[in-house]
Amino acid sequence: MRTMTPSNIGSYEERLKDFSWSLSEKELGYKAGDDINIAWHCTDRVCKLGKAGKTALIWEGLGGASKSYTFNDIRLASNTIASFLQGLGIRREERVCLFMDRIPELYLGFLGVLKMGGVAQPLFSAFGDESLLVRLENAQTTAVLTTRKHAGKVRKIREKLPHLKHVIVVDDDGKKPLQTGEVAFSLEKAEPVEDFKAAATKAESPSVLHYTSGTTGQPKGVRHVHYSLISQYLTAKWVLDLQDNDIYWCTADPGWVTGTSYGIIGPWSLGVTQCVLDAGFSAEAWYQFIQKHKVTVWYSAPTAIRSLMKAGEEAVKKHDLESLRHLASVGEPLNAEAVVWSQRVFGLPFHDNYWQTETGSIMITNLPGMKIKPGSMAKPFPGITAALLDMTTFSPMTDPGKVGLIAVKPGWPAMLRGYWNNEEAFKKKFRDGWYLTGDRATLDKDGYFWFVGRDDDVINTAGHLVSPFEVESALLEHPAVAESGVVSKPDEINMEVVKAFVTLKPGNEPSEDLKLEIMNFIRKKLSPLAMPQEIEFTPLLPKTRSGKIMRRVLKAKEWGQEIGDTSTLEND
Ligand code: WT7
Repeated sequence: MRTMTPSNIGSYEERLKDFSWSLSEKELGYKAGDDINIAWHCTDRVCKLGKAGKTALIWEGLGGASKSYTFNDIRLASNTIASFLQGLGIRREERVCLFMDRIPELYLGFLGVLKMGGVAQPLFSAFGDESLLVRLENAQTTAVLTTRKHAGKVRKIREKLPHLKHVIVVDDDGKKPLQTGEVAFSLEKAEPVEDFKAAATKAESPSVLHYTSGTTGQPKGVRHVHYSLISQYLTAKWVLDLQDNDIYWCTADPGWVTGTSYGIIGPWSLGVTQCVLDAGFSAEAWYQFIQKHKVTVWYSAPTAIRSLMKAGEEAVKKHDLESLRHLASVGEPLNAEAVVWSQRVFGLPFHDNYWQTETGSIMITNLPGMKIKPGSMAKPFPGITAALLDMTTFSPMTDPGKVGLIAVKPGWPAMLRGYWNNEEAFKKKFRDGWYLTGDRATLDKDGYFWFVGRDDDVINTAGHLVSPFEVESALLEHPAVAESGVVSKPDEINMEVVKAFVTLKPGNEPSEDLKLEIMNFIRKKLSPLAMPQEIEFTPLLPKTRSGKIMRRVLKAKEWGQEIGDTSTLEND
């Protein structure tokens, strides 16, 4: 039988009354002006509270390799990494990139960087050399922690990165000599550092730099600070309902914000045990993992849930999943059918929640105990003032069913403090005292938010944002490509996939081989996510009279929508 415990939040309505973030500060023992260091809170403080011997991380890799760490182990490991980085001469506020699969060193390295006062810059390990280059160049990154498997991509671009002083290989086996400027570090072989004084960072000291894609220009570095912990702790406690006996599984990769805010900071600041599976998706392997580790709280994403639905109910029935007690989802619209399905097969609904890299923590959410309307993101977290703004006047509106822009009143602890070296883009995110998310939604008469779509051309594929601009720029580097227009195309599982319309340079003939070659070119340069799933060669692209490619027209064709006003089209 499934055991149900009272939720941490209790009553949403009660919590709304007199809500103040000072509640979270108090629970974390923080007062204005104190030092605050995320890594110290996630390790040393938890140990001080008597949980040194409690399991912090259960890790499983491909082929069944497994490791387990207590809170004292992660305290020591983050001390050891922090001290090693300091020893190399890396200073506070310098950017240290983590570029590796979901191995323990990624989680422990993240904490190590924060502990010595550095800025952690996690990058998705599937990124190709071009994706890596623009992000390391932009952040003027000082050091990269990586593994043998991914070091080649760093080597390829090293010469173009004058700021990159250290490449640290965390799994060197001594078989192949490292190159100049590369250094080996082994957590297993290093002498554990028992005492390390965590950097005396303050609320506004920089902590994490996550890159996110926009419609125009290169990806932007979203600047977060140590004070973000105040939001991340309380949202993990109330939305994910993490409790002392939980075994928590967040399926997100820390290359993306869900994997850091709720795959490291939230659970560990609460002293909760979490498990990590460093393997690709398979329904069988996922259910097995839940059964084996008796996962109680599961935070995942719509694409994964749709894939599970596709794998069918039989796969669910073969496993004992009774340990599960709370499910949550983020990253893209969670369709109503997925919520109904999960209620039917797991006996529990997935609780949809909405936020962004920029918001750092959950904004709009189905909280435990709240009435679930399948397909809705529900209501703002206490302490979050979210509204819909009229699309033209930008004034707040509550008309049921009318589409507006999702906006949030600035001031919650985890809000971005800026985009790295891009003040202009940051300013554009605000209007009349509101932070503009760039998403559209409707409200119903009960004040529930219903996601409609993005207000820009960014493609959300399997919960990951891909910039059409970035793909178009990379396509231009292929010798056969003259021009391209990149848009989303509907997909049953990933919701959207990347589609490229391409015109070829004279002397190149359209062919299936050429399509595959171009796809592969993008996969290697950018990532498998950014790779167009479909390429359509076309002699002409729709353009405005000023020569801008009209993605809107291409997109409408893919989605079977009306094209709308094309009066500015050049070749109509
Ligand atoms: C964009 C943010 C922080 C979560 C991981 C993604 C879309 C996010 C939902 C949801 C519909 C959603 C929005 C948002 N999105 N959650 N529950 N329903 N759409 O972070 O990469 O910064 O992407 O993902 O468009 O703006 P991100």
